[in-house]
Amino acid sequence: MAPPRRTARIDVVPASGATAADALVASTVLVVDVLRASTTIVAALANGCAAVIPVADAEAARARRAGAGDGALLAGERGGERIPGFDLGNSPLEFVAARVSGRTVILTTTNGTRALLAAAPAAAVGIAAFVNLTAAARWAAARGTDITVLCAGQEGRHSLEDHVCAGLLVDRLLVGLSGATLTGRAEEALHDGRRYGTDVARLADDSPWARRLAAAGYRADVAACLALDTTALVPTLLPGLDKVVGSLR
Ligand code: MLT
Repeated sequence: MAPPRRTARIDVVPASGATAADALVASTVLVVDVLRASTTIVAALANGCAAVIPVADAEAARARRAGAGDGALLAGERGGERIPGFDLGNSPLEFVAARVSGRTVILTTTNGTRALLAAAPAAAVGIAAFVNLTAAARWAAARGTDITVLCAGQEGRHSLEDHVCAGLLVDRLLVGLSGATLTGRAEEALHDGRRYGTDVARLADDSPWARRLAAAGYRADVAACLALDTTALVPTLLPGLDKVVGSLR
């Protein structure tokens, strides 16, 4: 007789830093940084990037490049702008095939890579955004463990777009995991997600960071990051390695 299917527990962490790493060890973690690191990593790998290596800061990025093999690219931002001397910033629109195909990208951003590094102890780490929402939920649900959606947030604070994305991930996870139990934080995110439904483009006006990016000339980035399900690619952080690679689900 098949063993009883365990009931998955779904949690949402509203901002990176709001959970202890050891709480993630048995979980499958989906890291969400809609504007813009998660979307950028999905774009890079969808355009043939060999791997994305998340690092803590610019100094670590330069040091890591020395051991990353020829042709590794430095990418990242602080304050939303490209780090001086880096090859790329953090705009998903920069990571076109002509620029990144076959290359390793070493990435550091203010929030997204920090959340990715915090999630590293987890049983499995996937990267989610609006662009791969359904595929990311499907990947996580198929793993048969508890699931934690880790929002990068904005410098440790709540990020509306990450929270809405987390809520829509919970909504889709419930499709595959009907008996799942939700924590209070997951219920709150689900409520936020359902307030937007498929009309997440409204976040271009509702999100303070989206407004800040648009004012800084990144309006096209905001539109690209608020597109739903444009790819089935789910980047995953390889266990025991520091590399993120992508595969279609
Ligand atoms: C990020 O980690 O994505 C940054 O905090 C925000 C950005 O680059 O727009």
